[in-house]
Amino acid sequence: MLEKVAVVGAGNVGATAAQRLAEKNLARTVVMIDVVEGVPQGKALDQWQSGPIEGFDGRIVGSNGYDPAAGADVVVVTAGIARKPGMSRDDLTKTNAGIVRSVSEQIARVAPDAIVVVVSNPLDVMCYVAMKTTGFPRERVLGMAGVLDTARYRMFLAEAMDLSAQDIQAMVLGGHGDTMVPLVSYTTVSGIPVGQLLEQSRLDAIVERTRNGGAEIVGYLKTGSAYYAPSAAAVEMVEAIALDRKRLLPCSAWLQGEFGLRDVFCGVPCKLGRRGLESIVDIRLTEQERTDLHKSAEAVRAMQAMVGG
Ligand code: LAC
Repeated sequence: MLEKVAVVGAGNVGATAAQRLAEKNLARTVVMIDVVEGVPQGKALDQWQSGPIEGFDGRIVGSNGYDPAAGADVVVVTAGIARKPGMSRDDLTKTNAGIVRSVSEQIARVAPDAIVVVVSNPLDVMCYVAMKTTGFPRERVLGMAGVLDTARYRMFLAEAMDLSAQDIQAMVLGGHGDTMVPLVSYTTVSGIPVGQLLEQSRLDAIVERTRNGGAEIVGYLKTGSAYYAPSAAAVEMVEAIALDRKRLLPCSAWLQGEFGLRDVFCGVPCKLGRRGLESIVDIRLTEQERTDLHKSAEAVRAMQAMVGG
């Protein structure tokens, strides 16, 4: 169990992540920070009171300032706005870059040894802003996207095959967006290549649905985006770190030559343990997957340049 995990943002993703962190007994104290007065305090108090029922003893505290997050082992960053009608993607990028920059300054001030798990969108670019602003090494700045995209992919496959998602091994790499790269060549069901169990046209449809997984939910919700699966995915990363599990999970990481890519955040297979990113596993890809991964990374690189890189 970690001493302290901070969650920045008490919106749907942040608050659900805080609740999950407490329920999984991953931290003695979960600190939830948000600029809106009263909201983090009220939600934290409400969540904390579920302790006797859910079986946790940790504290959940809400705050508008960062001082209660002092010395946090892990900080999950969910702060940022969602796109509103009339807003371009560039507007969202600039606005959230400003938010993530000021959040990152505070993290560096109060928790200089923390491992940062970024959830804010556009994900890979926000990782870049967080790493640049905190000055933390790449081992301590990771983005949550691949775990979520892979969970969606596995669930769609499980449904199509009428098999348990638990037995489906898969990874979705690349940036978190339309250019993400589900690795069909490495997708197996208890070790059996998925191509032996599902025909190509159905696989293609599932890959397409995975790429649009976030948008499909926004289409239903209209006023917001997904948060149950995103918070679960972020907490799975925190759990791998907290329990030093050495999980191999697809996360956005700062590449330094891996996959032939450099100075760009992109989703790749990452070993996560108590030190954060412990290594990146550079695997062989098909020609098409490699081309797609590079295309995805270049889209991120263009946005990195836009936020001042
Ligand atoms: C999604 C958003 C949260 O994929 O990025 O649902």
